[in-house]
Amino acid sequence: MEATGGTALSICSVLFFFFTEASSEFIHIPTLVHHGIEGKSLLLSVETHFSLDEVEIQGTWSHTRPSGTRATLVTFTKESTITDMMYRNHLIFREPNVSLHIRKLNPEDEGDYTLDLNIEFHNKTGLVIKEKRTVHVTVDVPVASPVIEKKPMNAVVEDKANVTLSCSVERGSRVVFEWLRDNVPLGYADRYHFSEDNSTLFISPVRKEDKGIYRCVARNPVSPGRHSRAVEVNVYYGPYNLEVNSGQGLRTGEVFTINPGELVFFECQADSNPPNSYVWISKSRNATKVITEGPRLEVLSYRLAQTEKYLCRAFNNVTQKQDEAQFTLVVASLGPGKEKQSQGGSSVSPLAAITVCSLFVIGFMLLFFLRRTCHPKRVLMSIYNRPLSEQKRPHRSGHEDATEDFGIYEFVSIPGKMESAQASCRSLARLESVQDMHTTIYDVIRNVPETPSHSLLK
Ligand SMILES: *[C@@H]1O[C@H](CO)[C@@H](O)[C@H](O)[C@H]1NC(C)=O
Ligand SMILES: *[C@@H]1O[C@H](CO)[C@@H](O)[C@H](O)[C@H]1NC(C)=O
Ligand SMILES: *[C@@H]1O[C@H](CO)[C@@H](O)[C@H](O)[C@H]1NC(C)=O
Ligand SMILES: *[C@@H]1O[C@H](CO)[C@@H](O)[C@H](O)[C@H]1NC(C)=O
Repeated sequence: MEATGGTALSICSVLFFFFTEASSEFIHIPTLVHHGIEGKSLLLSVETHFSLDEVEIQGTWSHTRPSGTRATLVTFTKESTITDMMYRNHLIFREPNVSLHIRKLNPEDEGDYTLDLNIEFHNKTGLVIKEKRTVHVTVDVPVASPVIEKKPMNAVVEDKANVTLSCSVERGSRVVFEWLRDNVPLGYADRYHFSEDNSTLFISPVRKEDKGIYRCVARNPVSPGRHSRAVEVNVYYGPYNLEVNSGQGLRTGEVFTINPGELVFFECQADSNPPNSYVWISKSRNATKVITEGPRLEVLSYRLAQTEKYLCRAFNNVTQKQDEAQFTLVVASLGPGKEKQSQGGSSVSPLAAITVCSLFVIGFMLLFFLRRTCHPKRVLMSIYNRPLSEQKRPHRSGHEDATEDFGIYEFVSIPGKMESAQASCRSLARLESVQDMHTTIYDVIRNVPETPSHSLLK
């Protein structure tokens, strides 16, 4: 009876203890995961939160290997310690301090270290608190400086070649490799192929964007990232993004309008490695002609016809690729204000300006001819602004090309007809017999000499 009563009491006490002091810890382990360095010592530190005068303690440290093998290392009380014979030179344990010191770590020391501690309080009869803590230990060899290698050693041509970068370390366990290009971790690309441990990077095929300074970084739990020396991957590419620019003149799309008598420089630029060779070609008279070489072209506008076509061709003699940009040069008086506008660089406002100018010119000429040739009662004006041979060109809407605004403006008045110039000319021929139309037509012909429509009528 007495024994059962005692047991019941102690169970009650234990329960009472758990419910009232569940949050209090008698032992505390500051670090539950240790990354040990091979050959160095490691302290599995334990803090005790009780007074040794008030308690009896009894406990063990045991080691469980990753393989699952378990061994008891140390058995101890407040006054005595028994260390397993196998570990006597390897471990330091000084009771009543329950911390465990491992002397020279080796890979065998990896695994879980479990402390089982029973604490018996003198003043609370028969009360035994059981504490159990587990600490995880890994043992690693620090990483040596990684060595980077590149194949092929020389520069490579875009889209044709592959590059292999490999990284190796002389020492180090569980090494993780990382790659940097221009000090930025390499992003994903389907052209990148990594070996299983990331130590080899195979780029296939190489592209322009692969050009840069490469480094590999090797790390493990006991070594922060160690960087290799830098290796340059040089990629020959291009030409790309060919552009023709000029500080002078007025630019509208591919048309440059320059003032008569002006000296104009054009600059041809393209992204290329190695640098391009540039050739300037004139396409003015059917046949093409090489004018000059190099990125710069100088044009004296008084040497030009009203409009001329030019072409800048960039050639990369390593990639054997070329690109060309064509533009049209128009010589026309822009006035002093327009030149400033061209410096602005906006392609919309010059376009608008040219449209407004053209409309103004058309309007002005319209007015002029109306006054000179037509009576107010005569109704219709048919306008065409191109020579007849150009009518075959595909129709364009709007004024995207300023060249279209240059030409001969002719005004023909016929009642009730609003077709193209050619059509109205033919109708004119047919209408010759009609008497009251005749005067109208006559007036027009008389006032517009030396035009294609004139000869058509004869
Ligand atoms: C236990 O021993 C370790 C060294 O072995 C020491 O750092 C620690 O302060 C000791 N703890 C106590 C409570 O003395
Ligand atoms: C580059 O690698 C691809 C396979 O990824 C291979 O087919 C090709 O022949 C290689 N090119 C060169 C120049 O080695
Ligand atoms: C390629 O062009 C550069 C100039 O742009 C020149 O120096 C080099 O000799 C050329 N190489 C070959 C193989 O033609
Ligand atoms: C100009 O080229 C066109 C075809 O592009 C050809 O029909 C014409 O005869 C050429 N004119 C001259 C003067 O070479």
